[in-house]
Amino acid sequence: MNYENIVALERKLSLPETHFVSGNVYTDKTIFETEKSKIFFHTWHFLCHESELLDKYDFRTISFLGQPLIIIRGSDNKIRSFLNVCSHRGAKIIHSPSGNSKKLTCFYHLWSYNDRGECTSIPREKGYDNANLQKRLCGLTEIKTDVFMGMIFISFNKKIMPLNDFIGNSLDPFKDTLCSGELEVFHYSKSTIKSNWKAWQETNLDLYHEWMHVLLRKTQINAGNMKDRKVKIMPNGHAMVGGLKAKYGAYKGINYRQSSKALPGLSSDDFFFVDLFPNFAILARGTAIRIDTVTPIDENTSLVEWRGLGLRGDTSKDRRLRWKHHNQYWGPFGRNVPEDAFAAEACGEGFIKSASRYQIIAREENGTGQDDGMLRAWYKEWSKLTSLNINKP
Ligand code: FES
Ligand SMILES: [Fe+2]
Repeated sequence: MNYENIVALERKLSLPETHFVSGNVYTDKTIFETEKSKIFFHTWHFLCHESELLDKYDFRTISFLGQPLIIIRGSDNKIRSFLNVCSHRGAKIIHSPSGNSKKLTCFYHLWSYNDRGECTSIPREKGYDNANLQKRLCGLTEIKTDVFMGMIFISFNKKIMPLNDFIGNSLDPFKDTLCSGELEVFHYSKSTIKSNWKAWQETNLDLYHEWMHVLLRKTQINAGNMKDRKVKIMPNGHAMVGGLKAKYGAYKGINYRQSSKALPGLSSDDFFFVDLFPNFAILARGTAIRIDTVTPIDENTSLVEWRGLGLRGDTSKDRRLRWKHHNQYWGPFGRNVPEDAFAAEACGEGFIKSASRYQIIAREENGTGQDDGMLRAWYKEWSKLTSLNINKP
């Protein structure tokens, strides 16, 4: 396409350089490769909640940017992650998404591994004697794994800062809830969206877009004073928003939420959220918690995973109610998450053929109201790690 909108260029030139993002940032293959090495294989990445690996020998398998992984709770209760590939001929070992097993046996020639990743059995092992193959050196490749407030993270970077330092105080508002030891994942859904991964993450950083959601227009925009909202920018590209309140009484059909059972540490009309750089968001809405993670598949396609957390030990009646609360906003047919996915794909459509050349992140409201400060802080960290300029990448 050879078409320039002169007015659009002029509009852009009047903005500070930190206040707009070039469309190339979303579509360029080279930039995407840089993001993989400098961001995704460099920093910490959320995998799942510890309630998804509750018992010894519980495991889950996932694919992270093409790397097959297995994550398992050991006999010592420690959670470890390994590349899910056999040391023999490289086959992917475990193919089921989850299970419980003391022994991880490769289907191909039946080499086996234990919960520490050690190779424990090689059929007709003597056949390797002449070649001096040593079983003790045939273990799985371990990936750095740590747990923070019940959430399991991995990093492919052996020199990465400790997870505690990476997160710092960012999740303090969730401490009483996440550390209560009473939470479990009660909802999981995922979707592949046709959009660059950042367009999804932006839906968790952009306060201004609450206008899009009818439910938020009714229960949130006028629920409190815009000036009471507090955007807090934290180290390592993380950010949080507090001071929001939900006025469930303003929407017919969900007004009963106001008096429902909140999770430990929350009141039923609380709403706040934290974004951890690069691809994680956690949101508290009184009676339920949502965690989402976006992982790129390629520069134009992304996997978004949503988890809902509620109280372990809920009665079936309470559980049904909590599911309902969660799904009203955040379920696959709720009034919030599917609309965000639509918005991310709409931005993807705008950028993919360069019809849209850049986007504006220029709202300044002193860290209150619908300030774009979280978006700018996120892109500042992105630039720091990739060494790329957001508007002239
Ligand atoms: S490839 Fe796994 S046992 Fe041969
Ligand atoms: Fe949204």
